[in-house]
Amino acid sequence: MEFFLDTAIIEEVKEIADWGILDGVTTNPSLIKKSGRDFKQVVSEIAALCSGPISAEVTALDAAGMVEEGLQLKAELPENVIIKIPCTPEGLKATKVLSGQGIGVNVTLIFSASQALMSAKAGAMYVSPFIGRIDDTGADGMDLIAEIMNTWDNYPDIETKVLAASIRHPMHMLQCMQMGVHTATMPTKIFKMLIKHPLTDKGIDGFMADWAEVEKAGNA
Ligand code: G3P
Repeated sequence: MEFFLDTAIIEEVKEIADWGILDGVTTNPSLIKKSGRDFKQVVSEIAALCSGPISAEVTALDAAGMVEEGLQLKAELPENVIIKIPCTPEGLKATKVLSGQGIGVNVTLIFSASQALMSAKAGAMYVSPFIGRIDDTGADGMDLIAEIMNTWDNYPDIETKVLAASIRHPMHMLQCMQMGVHTATMPTKIFKMLIKHPLTDKGIDGFMADWAEVEKAGNA
């Protein structure tokens, strides 16, 4: 499973990339706003820290504008940057054009299995269903992930990867792992929650205390 980081904060990318298990990074206009930094500059810096796909989102809403922006981003940013496009009819058209030119596209803001399959047909490298935002409406975002994974099982020739996004807590990740989701993008705090376990910390404390005794006895 690919682990992506959902942030535009360079310090967070550095910290998680240092763990050695970071496969990619996703950004969006809201995350760029939160960083308070220049879009292209911050994406370039992220792309230098992580060799995997780095999603940079277009802001045009028409296909021609999306294609133009996508080509410009590809020309100006490092090779590992891929283009993030919203799931609309115009987005499908732009995905078809860009993917036809060998450019990786991450189709985002997916809220149904039909949207995911149509984006895959347009040539998307990734489709990004948003789990947490469905949970926010009172429905279960994981149901959508299950529907998409079942759909993918029905059509084994699909090469598009399912990229679970809008992950809000460790259970979302655990359930994605059980379903064989290809990729998930998480905020830094979820990476930290997933690696932490109180029994690991307690175990280390116990081993350290006993080792101090071993040293004291001159047996180290
Ligand atoms: O990458 C976009 C997605 O992960 C957004 O998450 O928490 O804003 O719904 P959130």
